[in-house]
Amino acid sequence: MSEQKVVVITGSSSGIGAEAAVQLGERGWTVCLLARRQGELEEVAARVRAAGGTASTYPVDLTDDASTLAVVAQVLADHGHVDVLVNNAGRSIRRSIRNSLERLHDHERVMAVNYFAAIRLTHALLPSMIERRRGHVVFSSTMSTQVPIPLFSAYLASKSALESYARSLMAELGHEGITTTIVYFPMVRTEMSGATSIYAAMPMMTPAKAGGWLVKATIDRPSRVTSLGGALGQAGMSVLPGVLTKVVTPQIRRMDKRLSRKVRDH
Ligand SMILES: NC(=O)c1ccc[n+]([C@@H]2O[C@H](COP(=O)([O-])OP(=O)(O)OC[C@H]3O[C@@H](n4cnc5c(N)ncnc54)[C@H](OP(=O)(O)O)[C@@H]3O)[C@@H](O)[C@H]2O)c1
Repeated sequence: MSEQKVVVITGSSSGIGAEAAVQLGERGWTVCLLARRQGELEEVAARVRAAGGTASTYPVDLTDDASTLAVVAQVLADHGHVDVLVNNAGRSIRRSIRNSLERLHDHERVMAVNYFAAIRLTHALLPSMIERRRGHVVFSSTMSTQVPIPLFSAYLASKSALESYARSLMAELGHEGITTTIVYFPMVRTEMSGATSIYAAMPMMTPAKAGGWLVKATIDRPSRVTSLGGALGQAGMSVLPGVLTKVVTPQIRRMDKRLSRKVRDH
């Protein structure tokens, strides 16, 4: 019998992570579902099983050290190994820097989930991956780190930190079989994007399609998954950051005004 392929997906109680879990289930993967909301995790697990996969749920607050270590021990006891870790759990805050001057806790709260929780979990799983000389770690990031976007400073700083970590991990352990993928999602219609009312009027990617990007990252293991627009933006920012920022940011301000009008008039 061939060895089971095991993937751990954080933030799989909803949105992109839940859709990725179901799609990997369809492809016969054993999916370990991690997030805080147990009821939602059980619902996703039922969908994974109905799709032909195997699912286990691990309710956990990934900002907590002891709980994370306990869950990793349980996952390894249950499945023996992990082939792929998908660091997808996240939270976002949309607030101007001007309105954040006395809100350092915005940065602390976002970093706690988007950065420190992902590093904590990665570090807990890495020893077992290094021992097998095989392991892949996926990081859910955003197209908004590829282009200059206002109003998300805490969120984007946390995702950029995560991207730097991913590149360091690949640089240090790639030759020992440990690889990484950074996934640069565009806007996706989920609970997270739904928290900003004006985005109701914006065309967005479906969670199922975005879940497919995590599936590609898990199975094909490219160093990045991106839209063409994001890749061009990233290239532009490395060559002409000043010019691109001057051109793009007024357009974004105009788009926000247009979306506000649309939502108001609807
Ligand atoms: N939606 C977009 O437009 C968009 C764009 C670019 C990138 N992304 C990224 O895609 C990823 C998935 O987001 P989504 O859009 O699918 O949003 P979502 O539906 O709100 O999913 C966020 C997930 O993170 C989990 N989570 C949050 N805090 C946690 C904690 N302390 N411990 C454990 N789990 C925690 C949530 O589960 P519980 O509440 O059950 O804990 C939930 O499953 C995020 O990293 C996000 O930054 C999203």
